Amino acid sequence: MRALIQLAYFICFSIFLETCLCKVKHDQVLAITVSSQEHVEKVQNLTSHNETALWQPASPNYITTNSEVHLYIQSTSVQFVKEHLREHAITFRVLVENTAALVAMQIRNDTSDPRSGGVFYERYHSLEDIYYWINKTSREHSDMVKVILIGSSSEKRPLYVLKLSGKREEEVNRAMWMDCGIHAREWIAPAFCMWFVNYALAFYNQNTEITEMLNKMDIYILTVMNPDGYKYTWTTDRMWRKNRSENKDSYCAGVDLNRNFDANWCTKGASDDPCDPTYCGQFPESEPETQAVAKFLRSHKDTVKLYLSIHSYSQMLLFPYSCSYNEIPNHNELFELVKEASTKIRRYYRNNYKYGSGAKTIYLAPGGSDDWAYDLGIKYSFTFELQDRGQYGFLLPPSFIPQACNEALLAAKVIALHVINKT
Ligand code: ARG
Ligand code: ZN
Repeated sequence: MRALIQLAYFICFSIFLETCLCKVKHDQVLAITVSSQEHVEKVQNLTSHNETALWQPASPNYITTNSEVHLYIQSTSVQFVKEHLREHAITFRVLVENTAALVAMQIRNDTSDPRSGGVFYERYHSLEDIYYWINKTSREHSDMVKVILIGSSSEKRPLYVLKLSGKREEEVNRAMWMDCGIHAREWIAPAFCMWFVNYALAFYNQNTEITEMLNKMDIYILTVMNPDGYKYTWTTDRMWRKNRSENKDSYCAGVDLNRNFDANWCTKGASDDPCDPTYCGQFPESEPETQAVAKFLRSHKDTVKLYLSIHSYSQMLLFPYSCSYNEIPNHNELFELVKEASTKIRRYYRNNYKYGSGAKTIYLAPGGSDDWAYDLGIKYSFTFELQDRGQYGFLLPPSFIPQACNEALLAAKVIALHVINKT
């Protein structure tokens, strides 16, 4: 009898060990092929599981048949999710095998760390580092850079805009605006704003295009539009998208700042559920970050001719509208522009960028900054989605920063020079 009980114990223990051992030890990202309505519902259900984070599309509501979903899954649920998918004959492949290794690569940016290769602009930086950098840049280049405080975030962090201008005699009355990091987890975006500023200051009077830009227009740059969210991705949840404001009557925090602008606000393509990653907020411009940008642009709308918003990932050059399928009056002009930019990127960097109006190229997404800026009267308004197309997604290794930024820089130059000629 005793022997039997011992045997039973032994068997149970081995089964227990086995399940533990075959469990995946890493957080992973799966690319899931959704090919029927049944799949849509199954995958949507998986995204409500709190150990998953949707990478692509932005919200479960966007999941459609014949699309590829990128889903981040914590190690403790990887096995369960895979079994669940197999059970329902939903095909998938592992997109990122070990996200922790990529995260480690992305935060390895401390100069005292001997493993950190590369130079300052080829790394990702913490929010504190970025604030320090803003201050240092404006001090060291006081002849070309001014810092403007345009407001503060929900958690009261300052929103600083860098104003870059060429060393010229007269004031110009033309400007462009660029914001980076509306979405917290898209780290390549703030990295691009920093790259751009550095490039502009280093190559003024060296490179013809950037010199032309700085001589003919002021350039306003908001390096981190969502500092609270960005901070949160460094400390708590790498996959966070929204800002960090508290929502009334909900345990879920955060508003999607790119659904919070007053452009067909909270219609199809945004969510009124505070727990959804595309939550539109209580009302248009309910968020201090949205308000600060909108207020600044409203008061500079006579000079700002070009609006640029930097996101990732998926490699696209987009223009309005995203909030409706309607064509804007200068659709053809903007279409030709992004087409030219995309062609140049292909030629110089051998990389493909899709282009077109937002709604037709990705999905209906109301409340976006680009649409709002367009309707304010900024007739050249764009959203760039930088690298990559999902291989690393938001966890793009630092070694990819130079090319990703050079691609975006090229597109920005093509567009800005056109705007200078036309306005
Ligand atoms: N991926 C971006 C988002 O979901 C797309 C931005 C395009 N523009 C827009 N107004 N939605 O916010
Ligand atoms: Zn984004």
